[in-house]
Amino acid sequence: MDSFHANQCGLLQEEIKRTASVLAVPVFAFKKESPMPVTIGSRLPANFGDPIAWMMDCHRRVENFLSILVKAGALHGRQLTGEERHPLGAALRYFREGAPKHTEDEEQSLFPRLRSLRSPDIKPLLVYPDGLERDHCVADRWHRELNQPGVQWLTVQTLPAAEAGRFRALTRDLAHLYQHHIAVEEQRVFPAVAAKLSADELRLMGEEMEARRGLR
Ligand SMILES: [Fe+2]
Ligand SMILES: [Fe+2]
Repeated sequence: MDSFHANQCGLLQEEIKRTASVLAVPVFAFKKESPMPVTIGSRLPANFGDPIAWMMDCHRRVENFLSILVKAGALHGRQLTGEERHPLGAALRYFREGAPKHTEDEEQSLFPRLRSLRSPDIKPLLVYPDGLERDHCVADRWHRELNQPGVQWLTVQTLPAAEAGRFRALTRDLAHLYQHHIAVEEQRVFPAVAAKLSADELRLMGEEMEARRGLR
């Protein structure tokens, strides 16, 4: 269980290294170039004792695996090489199994606590959770729609043009959605929660996230 525990969203470290080396080209301008006015946590792998840093690590994982899907979309459904199949399969699996836990972390552990804060300077931020939850619903629908041709591609080696076109369009739509979504969370929501929640509340949040993954 240690290697599982060492990773933020339920993926093995070796798998992440393998996938990152093949298709994970940096397609996100926001990943390193967007302003990050508040830095939370260290660059070392986060743990459940720092739930905000943990969620930011999950965002880096989302960006990594989404970049794999975007890169795959640009292949237009052609036959995959052996080196291309593994990262595509890993990315599809991540968005089926790992990413939904991050969504639950936010919807069940983070947003309710943000909404419960009574500080006047938090009030302007309360507009964000509703929109972020709508983004989650849209992203979930698009990932489900994308998974089917993705699995088909892995199974039968190539994708017909129509499915390949839809796959590519969905990856681009998802990239745009996540770019704005992650920026709002990291620049608006996370810093406020980190600053305003008590140490006890942050600890409880981390414990909930740990339990969500069956690690507690
Ligand atoms: Fe989110
Ligand atoms: Fe998030």
